[in-house]
Amino acid sequence: MTEKRNLAVFIATTLDGYIATKEDSLEWLFKVEGEGDNGYSEFYETVDTVVMGKRTYDWLMEQELEEFPYKNKACYVFTRSSLENTDDVKFVNEDVTKFVEKLKNREGKNIWIVGGGELLFYFIKEKLVDEFIVTVAPAILGKGIPLFKEGDYELELSLKGTRTFNQFVELHYEVKR
Ligand SMILES: NC(=O)c1ccc[n+]([C@@H]2O[C@H](COP(=O)([O-])OP(=O)(O)OC[C@H]3O[C@@H](n4cnc5c(N)ncnc54)[C@H](OP(=O)(O)O)[C@@H]3O)[C@@H](O)[C@H]2O)c1
Repeated sequence: MTEKRNLAVFIATTLDGYIATKEDSLEWLFKVEGEGDNGYSEFYETVDTVVMGKRTYDWLMEQELEEFPYKNKACYVFTRSSLENTDDVKFVNEDVTKFVEKLKNREGKNIWIVGGGELLFYFIKEKLVDEFIVTVAPAILGKGIPLFKEGDYELELSLKGTRTFNQFVELHYEVKR
């Protein structure tokens, strides 16, 4: 039997656990001196499906990028509104567990949950995440959008490895089942 695909969080955070300021700024992240692409392309090669919340998608669209960054992947955006799919993304409003089960029953590479903290909250609560690859930036914000929202959940993790990319530290955990 072929192994099921993993669902991985790959995200950057401040030391105090924020993924953006309250105003959705990532300036604290972009100004950090890393190394190469800080493991991004290596990770990106391992996935063929990308999942994100609508606020993260909106942030991305505001960046006025020349091209949608996940063009060669199946990209799903969670929203409770009913929106028309685009050439690049499918909007979904489904039970997260059923959605992930469906994806995992298909063959393919791993699945990346880009964020943000709100969508991730539901994925964590339902224990849908298999791996966390969290890149810590040398910054403390004091307030912002949390990577981990407060809630009734608990996960036990196992450390798979750590790497540094100049000023960044990458923490790689597997979720214990
Ligand atoms: N540091 C990083 O690496 C990183 C990575 C990703 C994102 N970010 C930042 O994080 C911020 C956004 O994060 P966030 O936590 O505020 O928002 P988010 O999780 O990206 O999006 C929240 C939205 O997703 C939809 N949603 C969430 N859960 C859902 C569910 N179970 N079913 C259906 N729809 C659901 C809702 O959209 P509707 O309101 O349309 O219903 C909700 O308002 C942005 O500033 C972004 O730049 C940072």
